[in-house]
Amino acid sequence: MSGGRLAREGALLAWFGARQRDLPWRRTRDPWSILVAELMLQQTQVARVLPRYEAFLAQWPTATACAAAPVGDIVTAWAGLGYNRRAVNLHRCARAVVADHDGALPVTLDGLLALPGIGPYTARAVLAFAHESDQVGVLDTNAARVLARWEGRSLKPKEAQAAADGAVPAGQGWAWNQAMLDLGATICRPRRPGRSGGPRCDDCPAMPWCTWAVDGRPEPDPAVGSAGVSGGQSVFEGSDRQGRGRLVDALRIAPVEPAHLAAAMGWPDDPARAERVARTLVADGLAVADADRTLRLPG
Ligand code: ADE
Repeated sequence: MSGGRLAREGALLAWFGARQRDLPWRRTRDPWSILVAELMLQQTQVARVLPRYEAFLAQWPTATACAAAPVGDIVTAWAGLGYNRRAVNLHRCARAVVADHDGALPVTLDGLLALPGIGPYTARAVLAFAHESDQVGVLDTNAARVLARWEGRSLKPKEAQAAADGAVPAGQGWAWNQAMLDLGATICRPRRPGRSGGPRCDDCPAMPWCTWAVDGRPEPDPAVGSAGVSGGQSVFEGSDRQGRGRLVDALRIAPVEPAHLAAAMGWPDDPARAERVARTLVADGLAVADADRTLRLPG
């Protein structure tokens, strides 16, 4: 290990120790609670997750409790978080944990990856944040951006995961991975030409060891197009996603009859689009259709 790497580890861990945000999912090591938090935090901001997270766990404190509920109840509790498919995935996962693992989440990467709704990010987050594993690097869009900039080049998927896994200091799996997520979210931010925000290298504890910063931040930003770095969320206004969200919001209140479908989705003049997009919700398990095509949340 090079001296630079040791110094960078110390600098980032000291920064995190001094500034870490006090978040409820950082006070627990319970695997189910961590899983719920990480699924909610994928694509939804911390501020929106905070009020939902504790309410969800109060209602379903274990995978077994969640699995016993109708999936529609989980979708209802997901209100305000968006990307409702995650609620269906969480419920499927809970049922598999009960059916195949006696209600306890597996403790290996392969065991977690075999569950429905759990991908490479979520599986590693459970290992790092519940079990404090130092064998896994949690690679979300923020950590992926940090690693590409440190390396000074865009990474291929296997390289990015290997860089993330290999960067974790021995015995520091929990703090290191939390620190990487925080660094990417608050300091090593995406470049947004012409808009506020952007990287805050002057405040970055790892700047002396960042290839991109040391080279004077040349174009192109190595994070752009690097594996795991998202291009940002697509435009919501006018999207199919917006119509899907409106329909699930309506279904949380009451079933929707065919005559009211297009209006409920915000497309009163485009019933064909409403039909087509509503079918994707049924295919995803977020809605079921009665014989008369009335839609409702699944039981
Ligand atoms: N985003 C994803 N996981 C997170 C975590 N554990 N803490 C803060 N933000 C996160």
